[in-house]
Amino acid sequence: MTKDGNPTRERILVVDDDKAFRVATRTLLEDEGYDVHLAPGADEALTILSSADMDVMVSDLVMTKMSGVELLQKVRTTYPDLTVIMVTGFGSISSAVEAMRLGANDYLTKPCNNAELLLKIRRAMDAQAKDRELKRLREELHSTYSFGNMVSRSDKMKKVIQSIRQVADTDVTILIQGESGTGKELVARASHYNSNRCSRPFIAVNCSAIPDSLLESELFGHEKGAFTGAMKTKAGKFEEANGGTLFLDEIGDLAPTVQTKLLRVLQEKTFERVGGNAPIHVDTRIVAATNRSLELMIQQGDFREDLYYRLSVFPIRLPALRERLEDVPLLAEHFVHRHQTLTGGRVKYIAPSVMTCMMNYTWRGNIRELENLIKRALIKTQGETIMEIELPTGNGMPSSSKEPMPEVDLNTPYKDYVAAIVRDAEEKYLVRMLRLYKGNINQIAKLMDIDRKTVYRKMAEYSIDPAGFRGS
Ligand SMILES: Nc1ncnc2c1ncn2[C@@H]1O[C@H](COP(=O)(O)OP(=O)(O)OP(=O)(O)O)[C@@H](O)[C@H]1O
Ligand SMILES: [Mg+2]
Repeated sequence: MTKDGNPTRERILVVDDDKAFRVATRTLLEDEGYDVHLAPGADEALTILSSADMDVMVSDLVMTKMSGVELLQKVRTTYPDLTVIMVTGFGSISSAVEAMRLGANDYLTKPCNNAELLLKIRRAMDAQAKDRELKRLREELHSTYSFGNMVSRSDKMKKVIQSIRQVADTDVTILIQGESGTGKELVARASHYNSNRCSRPFIAVNCSAIPDSLLESELFGHEKGAFTGAMKTKAGKFEEANGGTLFLDEIGDLAPTVQTKLLRVLQEKTFERVGGNAPIHVDTRIVAATNRSLELMIQQGDFREDLYYRLSVFPIRLPALRERLEDVPLLAEHFVHRHQTLTGGRVKYIAPSVMTCMMNYTWRGNIRELENLIKRALIKTQGETIMEIELPTGNGMPSSSKEPMPEVDLNTPYKDYVAAIVRDAEEKYLVRMLRLYKGNINQIAKLMDIDRKTVYRKMAEYSIDPAGFRGS
């Protein structure tokens, strides 16, 4: 906390063996609202830096004892993020060049012009604020697309995540296939943000949203005058994503001419802008996705087979949600948490009956549908527990009510027949509960209103292993 109680005042360290300069600079900078610290020499400066974070250091280059250059060298290794402005003697261009070479961010010549000093400090502070914001956004992106944020309880999803981990750091082309809403874009982003390309751009192009006539120039850019309306030379998405990842979404909707050009890029790693003939080389990693069956499209002559093989160097197939229903409870809870701002954090839980309904639903819209239903339920819920969920009727009936009644075998004695049905129902109920509550016997016993011993006995009776339901 600073003298005036404002913790956010920017801090400047002024290092100079000339007392008059120190005092004058302090007055100037304090008038501008900065928190100013003074050091008469390099040693004192290092002591101050070791005890308090500074934003900018303004240091004289020529001082008795340790020179400003030596100080700069020390500071650069210990405080790489500190902005340093060196003050050099008038006309001493070579020392200014030397200071910049050694890592000073800027320099000033003596006698200092106040306006120039203030301007350079302001510029340094603004650049730092921008860097900090960029860093914060990057960190936010990283955590959004970290594997920790991807729900994966089912073996199928665990395998998917393992394969993304394996392939992320390579440059091979990835083809993600899966029904609508299964998480293709999320996987594409995760493969970028968990790779060594993560600080470079991730550029997404939705191939179905751009008219065929524009897609080529959108992807590869165009030269000035290439077509009516091409007023300026423009780089395409391939160039924008240089060093990073280009995500070609809905690749199944790519026009045949663009398919041919894309194939060439993948084969030769170069392309030309529309209307240009200079080959352009980029280091862009391609991740493509589609919810259409490319294999079927190939058979029908709508997708080039050679392009398919180039794209699917590393194929990832995302399972539909109905093939991994054990992910439903975890995903539902994840979305309650993720969209908690919709209710100011009031809604925290999902009633077991709602979970059961969701476990019996077919999820044609996959995870996106689940997310939307949870959002709607959050808005409608009054208390802290979602008690109801509006599943569209038709395909979401509990599976038990969809199953036809088994044929009654009148040769089986009545009591045996009913007992068998009860046993079957009991086993199903137990398995559902174990799945939902991740094998937590205490919780299950409470909810089923039977004691724990009975739960254990019944599990043994039906050869159910609770360990299979635990885990992430
Ligand atoms: N494993 C997961 N864990 C958490 N959230 C997920 C997971 N998979 C998908 N989601 C979320 O579900 C929503 C839909 O995912 P995404 O947009 O990646 O699907 P998609 O396959 O690209 O869909 P479409 O084919 O409709 O474009 C997104 O909000 C995404 O964050
Ligand atoms: Mg998508």
